[in-house]
Amino acid sequence: MAAITIKDMSVSYNKGKTFVLDRLNLAIKDGEFCVFLGPSGCGKSTAMYSIAGLLEPYAGEIYFDDTKMTEMEKGKKKTFVPPQERNIAMVFQEYALYPNMTVRENMGFSLKTKKVPKEEIDKLVMEQAEKLELTELLDRRIAQLSGGQRQRVALGRALVRSPQVFLLDEPLGNLDAKLRDQVRYELKKIQKELNITTVYVTHDQTEAMTMADHIVLLNGGNIMQEGTPNELYDHPANEFVAGFLGTPQINIFPCDVKQENGDLILDAGSFRLHAPEQVKASLAAYVGKQVDLGIRPSDFELAKEGVNGIPARVDSIEPLGDAFLIYVRVGEKVVVFKYAGEHAPAEKDLLLTPNMLKLHLFDPQTQNRIND
Ligand SMILES: Nc1ncnc2c1ncn2[C@@H]1O[C@H](COP(=O)(O)OP(=O)(O)OP(=O)(O)O)[C@@H](O)[C@H]1O
Ligand SMILES: [Mg+2]
Repeated sequence: MAAITIKDMSVSYNKGKTFVLDRLNLAIKDGEFCVFLGPSGCGKSTAMYSIAGLLEPYAGEIYFDDTKMTEMEKGKKKTFVPPQERNIAMVFQEYALYPNMTVRENMGFSLKTKKVPKEEIDKLVMEQAEKLELTELLDRRIAQLSGGQRQRVALGRALVRSPQVFLLDEPLGNLDAKLRDQVRYELKKIQKELNITTVYVTHDQTEAMTMADHIVLLNGGNIMQEGTPNELYDHPANEFVAGFLGTPQINIFPCDVKQENGDLILDAGSFRLHAPEQVKASLAAYVGKQVDLGIRPSDFELAKEGVNGIPARVDSIEPLGDAFLIYVRVGEKVVVFKYAGEHAPAEKDLLLTPNMLKLHLFDPQTQNRIND
């Protein structure tokens, strides 16, 4: 297994005229499950292909442990380490299995081309098949398998080679929702068992939140924030991160910051909140100015009294089974509130109050987080 270090890496598809990734720095720990997350076109696959050696960065360095992948001596020439010498395994959304070969043949194929002895191949394939619960299916042809089973074979085929780095680009994209949950769970389990350094590319925040040890959230080729899922969710560094993680999305209210009788007030027009102690210091510089207040749908509750109350009129209610998503109007704004009560409220006019310990405050100009 290997740690991956990326130093000042820039990647260009047009010989340096424009950069898809511009001086990217990143450290992925040995054995870590690292997820590259971000909207379409942000550079996730580009970053992964560079780690794989399928793309040569325009500038910067990539290391697997202490070994430089972006430069090696070949005779007198300097070149970069080609993919086949990086001891990596890759799985893509469009995994190409051989439909007329059996599961066993597919899983052993790369070992066979490497001239590994047959007994050794059989042993490695059996071991991997057991972990992926494919033992019963080893002699079936790929064409006779379900989508989820094929996906497991694709993972197994990649893992039999005991790679030091495992790279997956949207590998669950073509599975239905139920299978995706199942394969996600299995994949995470195998990754932990094998303790194999993994980079997983997705635009799906749920996949990232549930699987990652380390999320790298990219936008426009830049890292917006990295850290554990909880760090990003509980302490988004900016409005982009706050909006990207969490479903439904965080509600944002532009507020005036006012000082009244020694109190700091967040005035959204349609409601007023008394700023709690722990945000006062960070808000002091914004008195007389605006901030963006973020409140997650699950951080509201029904209020009993008027202080910090938010008058809301119910628009529509979506039952989720274990909770309700209640769409309300606060002033002119549509706001989502996740209500965990047993019955949806019968009234049209509600008074909500946010969890005052979970307010997210952002600078409207820089979009950066203000409070700790
Ligand atoms: N071969 C290429 N030639 C030129 N531009 C490219 C090439 N591949 C990708 N790009 C551009 O680089 C940017 C990043 O692309 P990349 O494929 O890394 O995005 P991504 O985050 O993986 O997106 P998606 O979620 O859609 O797969 C995009 O603007 C894309 O158009
Ligand atoms: Mg991609």
